Amino acid sequence: MSEDINVPSTENFYNNTVLSLPLANWSGSPDLPMSAVNALETGKVIFLPNLSFSLSREELQLLDPAIVDPKRKNISYQPLKKRIAGVATKEHESAISALLERHHQACLQLIKAIFPEYQQTLHTPTNSLRLHPVAQWTNNTSWRKDDRRLHVDAFPSRPNYGERILRIFTNINPGTENRSWRVGETFPTLAQKFLPRLKSYSPFLSKLQNSVGITKSLRSHYDHLMLQLHDAMKADADYQKNGPQIAIEFPPGSSWACFSDGTPHAAMGGQFMLEQTFLLPVNAMQDPKHAPLKILESLMNKPLI
Ligand SMILES: [Fe+2]
Repeated sequence: MSEDINVPSTENFYNNTVLSLPLANWSGSPDLPMSAVNALETGKVIFLPNLSFSLSREELQLLDPAIVDPKRKNISYQPLKKRIAGVATKEHESAISALLERHHQACLQLIKAIFPEYQQTLHTPTNSLRLHPVAQWTNNTSWRKDDRRLHVDAFPSRPNYGERILRIFTNINPGTENRSWRVGETFPTLAQKFLPRLKSYSPFLSKLQNSVGITKSLRSHYDHLMLQLHDAMKADADYQKNGPQIAIEFPPGSSWACFSDGTPHAAMGGQFMLEQTFLLPVNAMQDPKHAPLKILESLMNKPLI
């Protein structure tokens, strides 16, 4: 479904979708023009074209898809628990843990530099080392898991009750391969478009899903709508092809960040990436009205959690 997608690269759409910052190191620079929080909260991708994450010669040896557990998509690391998951071979675990710990520390520095407003409130960090080529994992997956389709992130088994999903990405491809994304329209227009066709919420079904272990806690009305939205976007071939969107290329040695629950995105190509996820309470936002929770509540005219 990739060759005939209509991706207009208009300058206006790009400027409304991307904020580029000239940062070249993770602890920031004194001449940074602004905090990026407002742009982030209104759905922009913060692009850091000069922010690379250097790997040692030994770490470069870890860029091998054979190191990932075949049952997992990625290797993930929980820095607060020092817990690593998804490594196929025991002998690589400590080197990968050290790499992801160093990456996590760099991301904390970056938060301090460009999103200082969130320093005290971001929580539950998890980062991942993504070694498979995008083309490979999407060929083997169902449409619902196909992240080449535009979507907003929603966790099927871990309801998050409106908390924001902040993600920081770095292309660590040792060659020249870009990470290629498509990025879509803003959340308010997206939600208005899709809300009328989302299935209604059943508290009974949520309780049932929780009791049999499909979810780790009760799926709220909000979480139900976000999952429905994720699925409805991916299932809509016309929206995928003709919906408002631009293509963005992230070259090796660049980083970028967005609220992935509010910024429609699709990964179209690339291999070797580091990613850091944090959660942020809605009330810790500079302007909570930009949260998908608040936007959906205002469109539905009722509380959703
Ligand atoms: Fe995603």
